[in-house]
Amino acid sequence: MDTTLKISKIKDGTVIDHVPGGMAFKVLSILRVDDLHENSVSIGIRVPSGKMGQKDVIKVENRYLERVEVDKISFVAPEATISIVKNYNITEKYRVELPEKVIGFIRCINPNCISNAREPVSSEFKLVSRAPISIRCEYCERSMSEREILQNL
Ligand SMILES: Nc1ncnc2c1ncn2[C@@H]1O[C@H](COP(=O)(O)OP(=O)(O)OP(=O)(O)O)[C@@H](O)[C@H]1O
Ligand SMILES: [Mg+2]
Ligand SMILES: [Zn+2]
Repeated sequence: MDTTLKISKIKDGTVIDHVPGGMAFKVLSILRVDDLHENSVSIGIRVPSGKMGQKDVIKVENRYLERVEVDKISFVAPEATISIVKNYNITEKYRVELPEKVIGFIRCINPNCISNAREPVSSEFKLVSRAPISIRCEYCERSMSEREILQNL
């Protein structure tokens, strides 16, 4: 039985599946799901999963993800699958992938880094490890751990 069917079907929109149990809240903040937006959102927190034991699932109606949102999600849910739903059917499905280069959306943890100065320099990191996740700043060479990344996303 597909237990995710406990969550209602959507007609058009995006399903973010295989999110680690409890990480849905991070995904919602990446998507800026808040009182200002009117899309309906269904969330399953720690639903049983064959592959993962427990997982979170997020279904957003009438919303499709931007590249930067998918890249951000890859840091909180590296195994997530994204499905595009059109007229109740999945028309496209892919896995998120950690980007080799991370430009602009993570703040370097080094307060003295040039990317944190009032210069028009966006942050830039290279992926150095996938499990555990680790990235290195192209400007100051400081490495950031998974936990540090999640706090600066
Ligand atoms: N119309 C829909 N509305 C909402 N969610 C849907 C809809 N159709 C599929 N889903 C959900 O999208 C996700 C992917 O669907 P799919 O049928 O590929 O699942 P699956 O066979 O369990 O695949 P996987 O191996 O990725 O777990 C599942 O979580 C499923 O419940
Ligand atoms: Mg499944
Ligand atoms: Zn830096």
